[in-house]
Amino acid sequence: MLLHLDSSANRSDESVTRRLSRLFADRWQAVHGTAGYRYRDLAVDPVPPIDTAYCRLGRRSERQGVVPLTLVGTLIESIAEANAWALTRPLIDEVVSSRTILIGAPMYNFSLPAALKAWIDRITFPGAFRDGVLSDTEVVVISSRGGAYGPGARREGWDYEFPYLRAYFTNYGVPDDNLRFISAELALADLIPRFADQRPSAARSLAAACDEVVSCVAAAEHAGAKR
Ligand SMILES: Cc1cc2nc3c(=O)[nH]c(=O)nc-3n(C[C@H](O)[C@H](O)[C@H](O)COP(=O)(O)O)c2cc1C
Repeated sequence: MLLHLDSSANRSDESVTRRLSRLFADRWQAVHGTAGYRYRDLAVDPVPPIDTAYCRLGRRSERQGVVPLTLVGTLIESIAEANAWALTRPLIDEVVSSRTILIGAPMYNFSLPAALKAWIDRITFPGAFRDGVLSDTEVVVISSRGGAYGPGARREGWDYEFPYLRAYFTNYGVPDDNLRFISAELALADLIPRFADQRPSAARSLAAACDEVVSCVAAAEHAGAKR
């Protein structure tokens, strides 16, 4: 199953991450069909930020040594907690049952969009990813950024998005070899007149990102065939 997430607040026809993640999803569907495809638009249909009820339920589980997800329902003590769990459990199930998680993740303020962070906070309920349930999961993160963050760039080292996402998924058991990070840089050059001289570099970065997306789908096919 492919779980495809977008988190750009920008319109579909203007968003670079939406365009690149769609390219991946279209290629994937051409091979696998549509049955195993799930899509969530975290900007249009946001996952609510976690609340006190979510924390209470999670802490009750932790106090008991972290109960299995199947038993969390037995810990519920209020309607608010029931609502929190009803929102949370299906999202965790979606992640755990996905072979590939594709994340369209624009850089916002050197990090990730709040809509994506809200999803991450919610799915990370105590015990959600125990017992190596993500050890066979692939994660493909596709970003776009207005500036440049590679070696030699003025803002080299200011990217707090990819390192954060790498740490997050590694911490929850996704093997390093199963993590892919693709980005198109200088995406604001087309929009902002004073960056016009960067347009050729931006076009090259976007073309390279498209190529990487296509080869990433092909590599996933190859790995899947060997399994
Ligand atoms: C709220 C916001 C914050 C942004 N912060 C950054 C930033 O810190 N660094 C950067 O290089 N670009 C930044 N940008 C530019 C976006 O990363 C860039 O436009 C990217 O293409 C957005 O992804 P999208 O095209 O899929 O919407 C920001 C854009 C927005 C809307």
